[in-house]
Formats: sequence, structure tokens, C-alpha cells
Amino acid sequence: MILVVGATGLLGGMIAKQLLANGQAVRVLVRENSPSAALAEQGMATSVESLVEAGAQTVVGDLKDRESLERACEGIETVITTANAFIRGGADTFESVDLDGTKNLIDAAVSRGARHLIYTSAAGSDPDHPHPLFRAKGRCEVHLESSGLEYTILQPGVFMEIWIGAIVGIPLKSEQPVTLVEPGSRQQAFVSMADVAAYAVASVDDPNALNQKILIAGPESYSWIQAVENVGRVIGREIPVDFIAPGDPVPLVPEAVGPLLAALEMEDSFIEMGDTSARYGIEPTSLDTFAARFFG
Ligand SMILES: NC(=O)c1ccc[n+]([C@@H]2O[C@H](COP(=O)([O-])OP(=O)(O)OC[C@H]3O[C@@H](n4cnc5c(N)ncnc54)[C@H](OP(=O)(O)O)[C@@H]3O)[C@@H](O)[C@H]2O)c1
Repeated sequence: MILVVGATGLLGGMIAKQLLANGQAVRVLVRENSPSAALAEQGMATSVESLVEAGAQTVVGDLKDRESLERACEGIETVITTANAFIRGGADTFESVDLDGTKNLIDAAVSRGARHLIYTSAAGSDPDHPHPLFRAKGRCEVHLESSGLEYTILQPGVFMEIWIGAIVGIPLKSEQPVTLVEPGSRQQAFVSMADVAAYAVASVDDPNALNQKILIAGPESYSWIQAVENVGRVIGREIPVDFIAPGDPVPLVPEAVGPLLAALEMEDSFIEMGDTSARYGIEPTSLDTFAARFFG
């Protein structure tokens, strides 16, 4: 049995449904008063109903509640977590969920005899990173590596569906210019969430993935300006762009997005996928393919 924590989110939902479609037995952690029901109606989460319909067993729990995680891990061989606090808020913070909550889950998996834990980190995470999300992920990687569990650490770049979906998609819907942090020309290691889900699913049974960190991106890097131009080609018109200085607020998107968008514009990122792609048999999704699928 596989436990998926974060299944009511976007990536976790994709992973849980793919595993179920492959005939795997899946338990999903669900929370009382989860915001996912409302978010799912806007396409920003996965509803519990759709997971149950796909064949998932549910268990009620919360990463902030260690005992609930002990119950959730009972009889589990593999744990997959994609959970994070980024768009949740309230008592769910980078500290309480991404750091302490993930550590709670790792410790519960050890204490209940799970064999393998697949953790969704992020490219660039580091225990001393100045941003609390990347710092929490770096610290959880270290905790997992020394836990005694077999582990797979997924380190994806920037999700196309989330970031291009928000930075370009939201202004398009409200007929406003897209806002980019200047210069907008830094190379970004964009990755489709569908590819990340494919790596998570492959990691369950592929011995190649044991005790590995897997960096994941598209076939090449692209700048924000290229991303906007690409979407423009798909919708058949030029998209107007406003540039702001790093640190200025980004209109129309949640407040937490601004600092990360500015951080992305500080350096070029590139992840070479050739060997990884061949090793796991997963073809990286290009910006063209993503844009046609998402905006077409
Ligand atoms: N976006 C990117 O570009 C990017 C890049 C690299 C890595 N990542 C990582 O990829 C992962 C998946 O992202 P996503 O966008 O799919 O996430 P998401 O849609 O925001 O989903 C968040 C999930 O975490 C769960 N969660 C939050 N607080 C919790 C708590 N206290 N206890 C239990 N569950 C809790 C949520 O449950 P409820 O529905 O109950 O709130 C939901 O299932 C994250 O770890 C993220 O950091 C993202």
C-alpha cells in the first residue's frame, strides 16, 4: 500500500490517480476543513471525491499532528509526499508544515516500518538557503537521508502549469498586461508537473530511484520573455508585458509569488536531462508542448 500525502493538491492528485490507474493500492491523507474542496472548483486542487472515485482509501490526518501520521503510515510500504504550505496559510506555514510536518512524516514512516519515502523537494534547496521554503526542503532532505529509510528525493525546477499558468494565464483571463520582473531574460528550468508526476510514479518500483536525488526539468531552459512569446503564438496575438523591479508587488497573483519571481530572475538555471530521461524512460515536456496543451 502506498500513502500519498498532498494528494488533495495538484501534483499529489496527479500522482495518486496515476498510481490508481496503474492498479496500485493507494491511501491518501485528507484533512478536516481542507481548503481543497473550494480550490478544486477553480482547478487549483484535487477533490477528495475524485480521489475516492478513482479508488483511493482515505485516512484523516495532518502533518502538524504526529499521532495522525502514525495511523496513516500503518501497513504502508511506500510514502510519497508533495505536501506544502505555499498557498494554504493560517497555521500552515513553511515552518509548521514544510519543515516540522515533513520531518514528522519521515519519523512516523520510520516508526511504522515503511520501506521507502519519495519526497518532493525543489531544485536549489539547501539547509542554509535564505528563502524559508528552500531552507525547509534542504533540511528535510538531510533528515530523510539520515532516517534509515530508502529514499527518493525529487528536485524539480519551476512548474510550468503553476507559474506560467499564474504569471501569464491570470492576466490573460482579466485582459491585463503580464507583469515580469526585469529583465525577464534569465533562463528558467521550467518543468511540466506531468513529468514530475511520472518520475514519482516510476520511483515506486524502479530500483534505479533508490537513495537517489533526481533533478527534473524540461529539455531546455527558457526565459520568462520566451514563455510569454510562446503563449502569444498559441493564442495568436502578442501579449503586452509590464516590467517591474525586483521586490515590487506583482499584480493579480498571491503575495507570496512576488519574492519568488524576483529570486528566479537573479540567475540562469539549467538542468541537463539527457541521462536522467534515458534512465527512467521519461521524455521531458517542452515549452511548446506545454503551451499548446495548456493555452491551446
Ligand atoms: N510550484 C513549483 O514550481 C514547484 C517547484 C518545485 C517543487 N515544488 C513542490 O511540489 C510540491 C507539490 O506542489 P503542488 O503545487 O502540487 O502543491 P499544492 O497544490 O499547493 O498542494 C498542497 C498539498 O499539501 C497539503 N497540505 C498543506 N498543509 C498540510 C498539512 N498541515 N497537513 C497535511 N497536508 C497538508 C494540502 O492539503 P489540503 O488540501 O488539505 O490543504 C495539499 O494536498 C510541493 O512540495 C512544492 O513545494 C513546486
